Amino acid sequence: MNHPLEAPLPATLAGMIDRLDQQRRSGRRETGDAAGSLPTRRYTDPAHWQREQAALFGQWPVVAAHSSELPAGSALAFDALGVPIVLTRSAEDGRARAFFNVCRHRGMALVAAGAGSEPAQAKPCKALVCPYHAWTYELDGRLRHRLHAETFDGIDPAMLNLVELPCDETAGLIFVQRTPGPAISAAAFLQGLDEHLQWLGLAGMTVFRKVDRTYAANWKLTADAFLEGYHIRVLHRDTIYPFFADAFVVNLHAGPHQDSLVARRAAFEAFEPPRDRVALCKLASPTQLLFPNTFLIWHPDYVSLIGMFSPAVDQVRWVHTMLIPPERSGADWTPHWEKTFRLIEQTVFQQEDIGTAVAIQRGLASGANTTMQLGRLEHEVLRFHRGIDAAIDGTLLPFSAAPTESSSAPPSAAP
Ligand code: FES
Ligand SMILES: [Fe+2]
Repeated sequence: MNHPLEAPLPATLAGMIDRLDQQRRSGRRETGDAAGSLPTRRYTDPAHWQREQAALFGQWPVVAAHSSELPAGSALAFDALGVPIVLTRSAEDGRARAFFNVCRHRGMALVAAGAGSEPAQAKPCKALVCPYHAWTYELDGRLRHRLHAETFDGIDPAMLNLVELPCDETAGLIFVQRTPGPAISAAAFLQGLDEHLQWLGLAGMTVFRKVDRTYAANWKLTADAFLEGYHIRVLHRDTIYPFFADAFVVNLHAGPHQDSLVARRAAFEAFEPPRDRVALCKLASPTQLLFPNTFLIWHPDYVSLIGMFSPAVDQVRWVHTMLIPPERSGADWTPHWEKTFRLIEQTVFQQEDIGTAVAIQRGLASGANTTMQLGRLEHEVLRFHRGIDAAIDGTLLPFSAAPTESSSAPPSAAP
């Protein structure tokens, strides 16, 4: 695992820090080229939702867990993509793998999913034993044992290994694709952002708390809220705005993914080029979008890993994993993290960002507006939606070798 001080500062991240310094010195915000608009139907139309399901959630690698959630010799159910999946890590080779969580005998789930809003947790195990008739599988998916095997005349056990799904791990994240296919490379998928995550030390973090809840809003409404700093001054006026500069953001594109530095007031007070994560997070909150549905938000001393899943056109399944540095995971730190968790998850995210998304969903369903208007401070929202359209029409693929953009002014015409 990479320690933040051991990984070299990536040139792309250094460039972002320079741009933050320039904005601070000049007092000029980076904006898009042009305002734009979005049809509201894309948040309410079941046909559009079906296309997203098939093209995005069906075909793209998606973050299923932080690496620390899956210790060696364990299995973890993951069902947020709408099909039962189990992640395993065998003690022998330490590799993370994914399979359909479906027994090859008669289809029972091998590992129980989380119940209600209680997120699933990894179960220590040497093998997967089906709770129905005890067919047993190695953690690499091979069928090891069938009870009364002699009664399955002529059925070749080699044909009954678990159905594997593409899965790979990099920089502390486990990626899964819900449709079987060839092996994937998570590092190739991230197009350089894995180096940013390594420098920030994501792999070395550990879980403090995880929430898994479903709200009545299209998943893109919560995503939109993390793609612009324009709302922080108003929506978060009494919570986090006191720490942030008003809409000073640096964005870097890596294919459809994005890294941003959302400037904090401290950057305008005293700016020293940061040498490590802690120093950088005092000046700005690094925020990554791992297209299509994962966000990482680097607060001053902890990280929010958020998956926004889409069980229905008007629902978002919000999976927020709060990650902390292991040296602060002792019992004496618990009150600090409990208080932090209440502020960020319950107040800032649930009441403010998600509460807004739910209100917007109701507003859009009313038919009052047929378009949304977006200004040049919201250009990344437009770009995100263009990415979704391109993924749906097949011009954007998860492993297309799109060059990394570094322009401060991406095209922002309406889709
Ligand atoms: S369904 Fe799994 S052993 Fe029968
Ligand atoms: Fe927000």
